[in-house]
Order: sequence, then C-alpha cells, then structure tokens
Amino acid sequence: MRVFITGATGFIGSAVVAELVGAEHQVLGLARSDASAATLTAAGAEVVRGTIEDLDVLRDAAAESDGVVHLAFGHDLTQHQAAADAELAAVETFGEALAGTDRPLVIASGGPVGTERDTPPASGSPRIAGARAALALADRGVRSSVVRLAPTVHDEDTCGMVQMLIGTAREKGFSGYLGDGANRWPSVHRLDAARLFRLALEQAPAGSVLHGVGEEGVPLRAIAEAVGDHLDVPVKAVAAEDAAAHFGFLARILGNDMPASNALTRELLDWQPVHPGLLQDLEQGRYFG
Ligand SMILES: NC(=O)c1ccc[n+]([C@@H]2O[C@H](COP(=O)([O-])OP(=O)(O)OC[C@H]3O[C@@H](n4cnc5c(N)ncnc54)[C@H](OP(=O)(O)O)[C@@H]3O)[C@@H](O)[C@H]2O)c1
Repeated sequence: MRVFITGATGFIGSAVVAELVGAEHQVLGLARSDASAATLTAAGAEVVRGTIEDLDVLRDAAAESDGVVHLAFGHDLTQHQAAADAELAAVETFGEALAGTDRPLVIASGGPVGTERDTPPASGSPRIAGARAALALADRGVRSSVVRLAPTVHDEDTCGMVQMLIGTAREKGFSGYLGDGANRWPSVHRLDAARLFRLALEQAPAGSVLHGVGEEGVPLRAIAEAVGDHLDVPVKAVAAEDAAAHFGFLARILGNDMPASNALTRELLDWQPVHPGLLQDLEQGRYFG
C-alpha cells in the first residue's frame, strides 16, 4: 500500500514509518523542514514537503495514496485550540480526497477512558472535533478509524508525561502525587502503538474507535515512587490546593482516574501489546539521563 503519513518524524510517527516500511508498504511522509526530510529519507520514506496547514499539499498527497495515517500535531500548549482547528481542517481535507474510495484514514487522538464504545464528553478536548469528523467520513466511503492513545506513550528512553514529572521532582526536591495516588493512567509502548496503526490501516472497518492502550491503568503513586527512587528524593502527596503551583498545567489532569480497556481493539485487529510496560521502562533508568 502507498501510505501518506503526517507527523512521520515524531516520537510515534517515526515508529509507524519503521513499522510500515518493515511491512513493505511504500511510505510518503510529510516534512516541514530539511532536517525532517533527511530523517524520512534515511528511514526509507519518500518526502512530501509542507505543513499541516498546507491543505492543497495534504489533498494531493492523500489523493495519490492508498491510505493516510495522520499523526502530526503541534504540542505548544498555548496554541492548543489552533492546533485542534488545524487538525480538523486536515481531516476534512483528507475526507475530500478519499471520499467514495473506501481507502483508509487512521488518525491519532487522545483520551481513552473506559471502553472503545464510550463517547468522550463534548466538553472535553477541542481535538474531539477532528476525531468526530474522521469517524463521520465512514458514511462518505472512507474506511476511517480513530486511535485513542494513552496519555503515557513510552519506550525505554522516554515518556513525555513522565519526563514532566521527573522535571518537577528535580525542581521541587520531592516526587509528588495527588490524593492517595491510587488514580490510574493507561499507557502504551510506542512500538505496540505503531503496530496498532499499521493494523488499523490494513484492516480496521470504517468508523472504528480503537484504544492504543497496552496497560489499562498504572497508579500515579507507583510512577511517583519510581521517580523518587531514581532521583533519591522523598515521595509525598501534594495537597489539592497546592497542585497547580506544584505541577503547573499537569495539575488539571494528574489526579484523574482514567483506566481504559483495550479488549475490543485486541479482538477486532488481533493486536497484542508485547513490549515492556511503563514501570518496566521507567525502572531501566534511561529517563533520568
Ligand atoms: N506521545 C504521547 O504520549 C501521546 C499521547 C497521546 C496522544 N498522542 C498523539 O499522537 C500523535 C503523535 O504524537 P507524538 O508524540 O509522536 O508527537 P511529536 O513527537 O510531538 O511529533 C509531532 C509530529 O508532528 C509534526 N508536526 C507538528 N506540527 C506540524 C505542522 N504544523 N506541520 C507539519 N508537521 C507538524 C512534527 O514534525 P517535526 O518533526 O517537523 O517537528 C512531528 O513529526 C499526536 O496526535 C499526539 O497528540 C501522543
């Protein structure tokens, strides 16, 4: 399959490119810089120059492909709504290019909670609009699917969310959690996530919601304890009234209990997460370099 992928140079996208190339798909990756273009060429992909805002570029690349995987997202938190708007425009553009073809469009989203059948609240992340638009394309002849990724996608070297907790623990001199720390975050290894994106591209029926979840829920306190052990700092609860000052923007979600099942995804696509869990990767110590 000839596959156009956005976000191809990112943490997850680079693993998806390797997975697709390894499965003998022909990959075209979106690159917005010379450095990203060079990375893609080295990974065995063709390069499409442009940004996620270049809708003509996206339309042409999608029209010339047998399927699209959309992973690009600007993670500047001060520009979150603008990034969500750009994502919605990109999804609509892919829809125009793919309508009536039954070709696949797989997009990344966040916020798996509960099961794949549960609907996120309309008042949640502005990215819900992009996910809904992708799923609606199923009625227009696009084999669209949405992968709701765990907030802690990790490998042996890093995990974005945990790196933030490590930074805070270093700065404050202790590793903190909220409440009793029993609240759970789902996680997934990025190589397991990459395989899921390939399987979704190849097989997911139109309108599928998939959970990119390897572990249903890792207690926040266990993460805080592993961080405390490695940094050799105390592990303590942070009072609710001090959470914003201590954790910054993370305070808004850190105390959420959000276990998420992957049972329907595993059954639908015969997907089995096989790579280490978050605490195993964290224990290796490479996050602390
Ligand atoms: N990592 C996680 O823990 C996690 C958890 C839940 C959901 N997700 C979602 O999964 C997807 C992939 O995440 P990731 O961790 O791989 O992200 P990442 O490492 O931050 O990579 C972002 C990718 O998007 C590209 N990009 C950003 N803005 C762009 C723009 N305006 N035009 C073109 N390309 C642009 C980047 O290109 P450059 O290389 O040029 O910068 C890069 O390839 C995103 O939708 C993300 O929100 C990730």
